[in-house]
Amino acid sequence: MTTNPTSTATAIEFRDLSVVFADGTHALRDVCLSVPRGQFCVVLGPSGAGKSTLLRVVNGLVGSTGGRIEIGGTELTARSLRTLRPRMAMIHQQFNLVTRASVAANVLSGAAPAVSTLRVLLQWYPKQYRDKACELLADVGLEPSHLRRRVSTLSGGQQQRVGIARAFMLDPLVMLADEPVASLDPRISRETLELLKRESRLRQTTVLCSLHQIDLAREFGDRIVALRQGAVAFDGPPGALTDSVIDRVYGTDAARTGRLIRAHGEGANVAPARSAATGSTGAERKGAVA
Ligand SMILES: Nc1ncnc2c1ncn2[C@@H]1O[C@H](COP(=O)(O)OP(=O)(O)OP(=O)(O)O)[C@@H](O)[C@H]1O
Ligand SMILES: [Mg+2]
Repeated sequence: MTTNPTSTATAIEFRDLSVVFADGTHALRDVCLSVPRGQFCVVLGPSGAGKSTLLRVVNGLVGSTGGRIEIGGTELTARSLRTLRPRMAMIHQQFNLVTRASVAANVLSGAAPAVSTLRVLLQWYPKQYRDKACELLADVGLEPSHLRRRVSTLSGGQQQRVGIARAFMLDPLVMLADEPVASLDPRISRETLELLKRESRLRQTTVLCSLHQIDLAREFGDRIVALRQGAVAFDGPPGALTDSVIDRVYGTDAARTGRLIRAHGEGANVAPARSAATGSTGAERKGAVA
């Protein structure tokens, strides 16, 4: 596994984590992972494998039903979540921006957890955050002229740049990116992931990034974790994600689609089959998929 040599402290620790929804769905089963600070950890797996649940349980959008999570050494509880949440940010597939508002307002809203409700309501952010918003917009490649534009007038790629700028406003310890490039074309997907990786490296932010594109996972992941039916089916460096591992993780149908992805080469942006995978026990760990 490749970790950033400047820090090996654990940012996120999942210990025997399970999530069972009220209807009885086992979304996560005894997940054990230790994610070091600064790591870009890609989460793969077929539809319904539990990728979004794994990300959402970290920032409390989904509650765990077994095991525990630690963020920066602090156990995640209802009480600790209040202090930990401002240290976490999320990037979404559909960008989740206020499209009628300006680019500036959207980016500034990333600082909302750190300022008073009154200031947020009045859109009256301290200068340090206004300066930071301008810096971030430049970092993500948007022009000063974009600041006052309505988000709805931007392209999808530009909107995701706004989403990334917003997410880095408070220099988060943890970035949760749930299929951040699923709505973008292949070229823009690659640019967006490059940006996300660069900005997180600069800040030693730990990234959990779910993807459906195997090629992009191999290219950008320091580490790849694959889920299958809620359990960790593979955990290792990109080089260990062999075709046979992919076959095991996605099942026969999706493995065939996975080959299609690789056959697309540069244009790879085809999600693996979204049918539920069947077969493997999902118990294989540490790149040793039998
Ligand atoms: N609120 C919920 N209530 C009940 N079941 C849920 C809920 N949210 C997710 N699930 C179920 O939990 C399982 C894991 O869902 P999750 O969204 O984490 O999968 P995923 O790997 O992100 O899939 P996709 O690739 O389609 O986004 C699925 O069976 C899903 O139907
Ligand atoms: Mg999902």
